Amino acid sequence: METRPLIDPFQRPVTYLRLSVTDRCDFRCSYCMSEEMTFLPKKELLSLEELDRMASAFISLGVRKLRITGGEPLVRRDILSFFRAMKRHLDSGALDELTLTTNGSQLDRFAGELADAGVRRVNISLDTLDPDKFAGITRRGRLDKVLRGLDAAQEAGLRIKINAVALKGFNEDELFSLTDWCARRGLDLTWIEVMPMGDMGEEDRLGQYWPLSDLRDRLAERYTLTPLAERTGGPARYVRLEQTGQKVGFITPLSHNFCESCNRVRMTCTGELYMCLGQEDRADLRAPLRAHPDDDAALVAAIREAISHKPKGHDFDYSRERADGQMSRHMSHTGG
Ligand code: 5AD
Ligand code: SF4
Repeated sequence: METRPLIDPFQRPVTYLRLSVTDRCDFRCSYCMSEEMTFLPKKELLSLEELDRMASAFISLGVRKLRITGGEPLVRRDILSFFRAMKRHLDSGALDELTLTTNGSQLDRFAGELADAGVRRVNISLDTLDPDKFAGITRRGRLDKVLRGLDAAQEAGLRIKINAVALKGFNEDELFSLTDWCARRGLDLTWIEVMPMGDMGEEDRLGQYWPLSDLRDRLAERYTLTPLAERTGGPARYVRLEQTGQKVGFITPLSHNFCESCNRVRMTCTGELYMCLGQEDRADLRAPLRAHPDDDAALVAAIREAISHKPKGHDFDYSRERADGQMSRHMSHTGG
């Protein structure tokens, strides 16, 4: 099999795969899912064996960082066996990093096993430290359970980054308390601008939009912010708070000033590859995978074909009057 690395038409190497392993979640965060979600039938999902083949094909083509997402990846049955299987790519040196984005609800059970599988860092989504607000925004989550998971992850030696979605009128008042809490616990913190995803009521969503430029200005009222040059090939930018030494990130997915350095693709749990977070163009990789159970040549050809039309950039726009042309899929579909 030919293993020339993946380079897109704009000379960007694709070295980062975000792989969703389930569309299900034990929470129903209001900016992510509707209250009544219909989830996919099991046969639509890639099996654990298929996920392994898929991830391994990308790794053979030069992907060096694998992030497991969902939905909530840790609610997928036996997903730890998949993590354990991926460890072979860390051990061989083919993969630099195996990581996941989680809501933390299952970490009290799985943190140790994840560390054993070679996971060194996890991103935990946490928008508030108030138990009632937490129950409200997640519709069925419990803050104390997540905090126990966070403790377990720290005890297992995992490095933790907190991802907080910035929501006007919801966690504006926690800007400093969340920042201080992260500083005390040695957690990195990244704020995410809420994205026009899914089928949330238009008014509801736009009403909750809290621009990170404003958040950043408020942070600067209390701290000295030093911009850091470091980029990860994605939409995050970082500053250091001089008073605490803490690193704080900002993810503004609606801006497209990071597209030049984009190094990533996203796969849904049904094997659709999205070449760009902000565009609908996708490639079905499940068909070539399933058509040839013992041979990855067709799969590799389909991956190359898909990468050959990775677009130059995306086109989110809040200023449009209607939601036409914006994203109709949920974040839980492409895994953020
Ligand atoms: N806008 C921004 N972030 C979102 N997430 C889910 N839905 C949205 C949205 N509409 C985030 C979660 C988590 C990550 C998986 O994606 O909070 O941090
Ligand atoms: Fe689940 Fe994360 Fe979506 Fe919340 S944001 S419903 S935790 S996938």
